[in-house]
Amino acid sequence: MAELMVNIDHIATLREARGIHYPDPVYAAGVAEMAGASGIIVHLREDRRHIKDRDVRILRDVVKTKLNLEMAATPEMVKIACDLKPDMITLVPEKRKELTTEGGLDVVKFSDKLKKAIEEVRKKGIKVSLFVDPVEAQIKMAHKLGAHMIEIHTGAYSNAASEKVREREFAKVINAARLGKELDLGVNAGHGLHYHNVKEIAAIKEIDELSIGHSIIARAVFAGLDRAIRDMIELMKQ
Ligand code: PXP
Repeated sequence: MAELMVNIDHIATLREARGIHYPDPVYAAGVAEMAGASGIIVHLREDRRHIKDRDVRILRDVVKTKLNLEMAATPEMVKIACDLKPDMITLVPEKRKELTTEGGLDVVKFSDKLKKAIEEVRKKGIKVSLFVDPVEAQIKMAHKLGAHMIEIHTGAYSNAASEKVREREFAKVINAARLGKELDLGVNAGHGLHYHNVKEIAAIKEIDELSIGHSIIARAVFAGLDRAIRDMIELMKQ
């Protein structure tokens, strides 16, 4: 069965909405690990809109499962990864104005730039995953460039507007996962997965780990809101 790596970026999004010290993603990492997560993912963006340098430094110390640093293949981020030494990195495309990562990396188009970044990070003993669309040429190139793993972008599957499109996108994810395994790559998948679309993806036997963030943090609000209100009322009574 696929394991679950939890992306905790949106704990930091909530913190940054107020620019204060809570909720702390470091605390979320501990909770996620105790609940059975196989790893903790944070995306250190160029604009530092949610996760900060301070977070990744502390997380490097406290995460005991596996720290997966999501990042763009820029010289700044490659240097941070080489100094920090997370267990793995996932290279993603990054645009300043996007709300979230919008597509897979174009590994074919940017092969020279990615090759350099992959080599530098690999030299430090850090595992490298490339976030790619479920497209044969992209996966073959990821293998050629020396990535240890791919993360298959499930956004098109997750956002499919009809059952027909969903089935077509699901078939692409399966084929991509099979190709990844044939090439001896680790195979992860993620983006847009939630409580109503995860089962089929989690059942693909070629997928090692899923990367899920937004839906888990969103559910945590309702799983915990009742208790949070009761705690406040109790405190006010005192
Ligand atoms: N994988 C990658 C590469 C991502 O950029 C993201 C979003 O940060 C995720 C997985 C998780 O997506 P979601 O928050 O929709 O679960």
